[in-house]
Amino acid sequence: MVHELPGRIKTGVKRSQIRRLDDRLINQIAAGEVIERPASLLKELLENSLDAGADRIDIEIERGGMKRIEVSDNGFGIEKDELVLALSRHATSKLKCFDDLYQINSLGFRGEALPSIAAVSKLRIASKIIEADSAFEIQCHGGQMLAEPAPCAREVGTTIEVTDLFYNTPARRKFLRTDTTEYRHIDQNIRKLALSRFDVDFRLAHNGKSMLNCAAVTNEKDKNNRISMICGEEFAQNSLYFSAEQTNIRLEGWLGLPTFSRSQRDLQYFYVNGRAVKEPMLAHAVKRAYADVMYSGRHPAFILYMSISPEVVDVNVHPAKTEVRFKDTRQIHDFIYRTLNKVIADLRPGDNIPPARARLPDFAADSGMDGSNTITPQTSQAYSSLANYQARGSRHAGQAAFRFNAEEQLKGYKALHPDESELAALENVATEGYDPGRDASEIPPLGFALAQLKGVYILSESAEGLILVDMHAAHERIGYEQLKQVFAEEPIMQQPLLVPIRVRLPEQSVSAAVENIAVFKRVGLVVEARGETELVVRQIPVVLNKVDVPALIKDVLSDIAELGMSDRIEQTIHEIFASRACHGAVRANRRLSLPEMNALLRDMESVERSGQCNHGRPTWVSVSMDDLDKWFLRGQ
Ligand SMILES: Nc1ncnc2c1ncn2[C@@H]1O[C@H](COP(=O)(O)OP(=O)(O)OP(=O)(O)O)[C@@H](O)[C@H]1O
Ligand SMILES: [Mg+2]
Repeated sequence: MVHELPGRIKTGVKRSQIRRLDDRLINQIAAGEVIERPASLLKELLENSLDAGADRIDIEIERGGMKRIEVSDNGFGIEKDELVLALSRHATSKLKCFDDLYQINSLGFRGEALPSIAAVSKLRIASKIIEADSAFEIQCHGGQMLAEPAPCAREVGTTIEVTDLFYNTPARRKFLRTDTTEYRHIDQNIRKLALSRFDVDFRLAHNGKSMLNCAAVTNEKDKNNRISMICGEEFAQNSLYFSAEQTNIRLEGWLGLPTFSRSQRDLQYFYVNGRAVKEPMLAHAVKRAYADVMYSGRHPAFILYMSISPEVVDVNVHPAKTEVRFKDTRQIHDFIYRTLNKVIADLRPGDNIPPARARLPDFAADSGMDGSNTITPQTSQAYSSLANYQARGSRHAGQAAFRFNAEEQLKGYKALHPDESELAALENVATEGYDPGRDASEIPPLGFALAQLKGVYILSESAEGLILVDMHAAHERIGYEQLKQVFAEEPIMQQPLLVPIRVRLPEQSVSAAVENIAVFKRVGLVVEARGETELVVRQIPVVLNKVDVPALIKDVLSDIAELGMSDRIEQTIHEIFASRACHGAVRANRRLSLPEMNALLRDMESVERSGQCNHGRPTWVSVSMDDLDKWFLRGQ
């Protein structure tokens, strides 16, 4: 049969006889799915070591893994009689029946990794189990066993050495990159695993040089050291540990502060029951949680561990075992989003941000948004005194202790909205200032305003030293949070439509909309189906009166189709609020009185997320007396 391909020459397609593939070829093809490059091979070997209960793993690599990869562990080993079996396809000790897949506690389950590796490399396994007198080894080249298992010297555990990857499949070898690139992938995979198992000692050498030495963690301090080693010191200092639990799910980990954003998604680790996974729904939930505090195009940094009953997770969905499916995607998404959103919302001056080392501004030379160069917005001293301050009672009760004249504050704060005459009246109002005689725990976290610098920054004196506040950014954030709060807590202002909006849609979208009517209702959109292919919108929240509602509804429905949920309407409303807050915020060069400045500082202490502006930049920095003393070389 000859058929015409558009724009191409005629192709002859001939019928061939159906033949059974030989085992070697089957394994070589299967290897294509499992072993993409040296890094994926190493991942399989390391997972096997972890599954074997090892708590020490030594890795040696040559030439980016293309020449040699050797993994030695102190796990329970493989019995002599099972060595050959371990190299045959579909042979595993981890699974007995299909239902075991939903009770899985191991990283492997298919019995495919070793035969795949063996098919495309030269492989040697040496292993000893505790019950045996001797260790045994086997060798296999390109899927061919070289000899019977022979005794060798080795302690309990397993060594697997893989040389000349893809030596017998040159076409695949061509797809490998340079040593450096392949090594980079290896390094990433090891880091990922080292973060999943703090209790395991990982050591890595590349071309004879030691590259990573992660001792097993026995206490909290070691844990932080490992995080520093793997994710960098900046991340360790600019992240916050949290944990949350609800029936059947637990989420814990470290969240990078929004001010520590990245240009790449290179510091994002998500584990489900100890397995590193890539899952768009999880990524979406995290992204949404940070949406309010990060420029679009910037990425948060995080390490998240989710523990969930294995019955509700399907791990058998991808050959690299890096994807999972959940029984109830939506519930998981909501839990992650709600949890992280709360942690981020609670980041405000005076809350439990981890102690960060004070950095002198001239050391933080790069004002860039990149995490590697962010100014550390807060100092450890600031936080320890904040803890005392918080311990005195609720934030608001604490404020009362400052003996502020609330009315003055309010008046002062109102004057942030430009009205020069009101401002003039405030000029002479006496304001409370910093009193060195006062107990440090009585001084609010952001201190008392001293002055305004160049119409842009507020200078304030705190118990620890000097606070600098970007007044526009801070005011914008406060305005935004207040608009959101009113929307969330008060009845939504709705606008009935004299002429209802009609949205024509495919039948399945209309039924999805009807099933998910609550998504619309909770934000004040009254939507109903008319016939099988049309929705009518009878009422909208006033805030959306300039928005293309049919387009919004279509976006919501495609979210629902893809992710099982949507909060796009809330997002749109938040964007509108953000732009209103920006316009309403105090402009540069507006002169503020001290009461106004103090009012702004007090608001920052009580409003959610006020530590960052709406784009994730810090709204304030603290310079401690120690920092200042260092600048002036005092006491050195
Ligand atoms: N380092 C090791 N220590 C002890 N046993 C091992 C080790 N590596 C492999 N094995 C044994 O060999 C078997 C085959 O390993 P292989 O990696 O091919 O399959 P698996 O881990 O069971 O599943 P998967 O293909 O999903 O990785 C394992 O089930 C395990 O019993
Ligand atoms: Mg395995």
